[in-house]
Amino acid sequence: MSSAYKSVAWNRQKRVYDLTLLGLIVAYFAVFFGVSIGMDKGFDLGLLTIRSTAILAFVLLHFVLLIGPLCRINAMFLPLLYNRRHLGVVLFLVALVHGVMALMRYHGGTDVNPLVSLFTAYSTDYNVTLYEYRNLPHFPFEPLGFFALLILGLMAATSHDFWLKNLKPSTWKFLHMLVYFAWGLAVLHVALGILQDERDRTLVWLVSIGTGVVLLAHLLAYAGESRRDRRRVALDDDGFVDVCEVSSLQEGRGMSVNIGKERVAIFLHRGRVIALDNVCPHQGGPLGEGRIVDGFVTCPWHGRRFKPETGHACEGSHGSIGCYEAKIAGGTVYVKPQMLPAGTPARPVSVQGAE
Ligand code: HEM
Repeated sequence: MSSAYKSVAWNRQKRVYDLTLLGLIVAYFAVFFGVSIGMDKGFDLGLLTIRSTAILAFVLLHFVLLIGPLCRINAMFLPLLYNRRHLGVVLFLVALVHGVMALMRYHGGTDVNPLVSLFTAYSTDYNVTLYEYRNLPHFPFEPLGFFALLILGLMAATSHDFWLKNLKPSTWKFLHMLVYFAWGLAVLHVALGILQDERDRTLVWLVSIGTGVVLLAHLLAYAGESRRDRRRVALDDDGFVDVCEVSSLQEGRGMSVNIGKERVAIFLHRGRVIALDNVCPHQGGPLGEGRIVDGFVTCPWHGRRFKPETGHACEGSHGSIGCYEAKIAGGTVYVKPQMLPAGTPARPVSVQGAE
């Protein structure tokens, strides 16, 4: 490991997030197994495990993809963004159990290596070569799941801070954008699997609704952002621009605002309004989607921390960020869209007593 590497500290939010996630997963398995055993007298633990982990992994994958756009549509979803990486790792582990169990069950009973069988069994079963899968119901859906799992594994393995620090940001970003490719593969895996086994119509709904919701959320988030970006920048006499109502700010939580090309993060901290650069110098994370944890502005992506009053990075964090001058008038927050040099404190703006 690099000697310059320093892990981001564990904190209360992370523990609450992980415990909630664990609780929900345990509850899901309890309900899935309870209902399945209640409805079906023939109890097959292996099959139930394959199916329960399959559906959980598929749902978690959609959830991971939805968090980003949901946060851009409405700030109330921001708590979900925090610690999203742990969700990704849990998703991979659940999918891994599904993949390994399916591999052992459907490809483990012969002398052929299960991984070889995964890619060759179809040609034997349907008597077709790899280039003759014109008939969709005969298309080998399992290898698609295998490649989706491979990508999720790569992402989980590189999600740790160590890799964020040591891979180039562009490489890391590229790797993690592959989640959309993994999603496409997983959707095809399930959809083509359904064509081969018409046993369960619920899956058709799961795939259709999931795909629709993910696409719609991304479209809505994109439309909202372009609208905000196009917003005309109207300066008042002092060179300030109105950005939001004071009442829309919540203590300790951030808000991202675009003023022309300036990306500004607004926080309400101990009764004061603070405006900072919205772009974390570490990996470009949106600081306004983060919150103030233990008195520090904390990046939602990788937990880098900055002093709210000055933008100074804490020990272990890289670089400082610039502040913006702000003011309050008539219950509205205004920001001057010229960033102060990094580390220069802006005049404190108290909510109390402001008009
Ligand atoms: C090595 C990787 C994988 C293999 C070998 C594999 C294999 C299979 C097989 C054989 C089935 C049919 C199970 C049955 O009907 O009994 C299945 C279904 C399914 N798989 Fe996978 N899979 C893999 C990866 C994935 C991944 C990464 C996901 C999602 C993130 C996924 C999601 C699903 C879903 C939702 C179903 C339908 C579950 C059901 O029938 O109730 N699979 N998979």
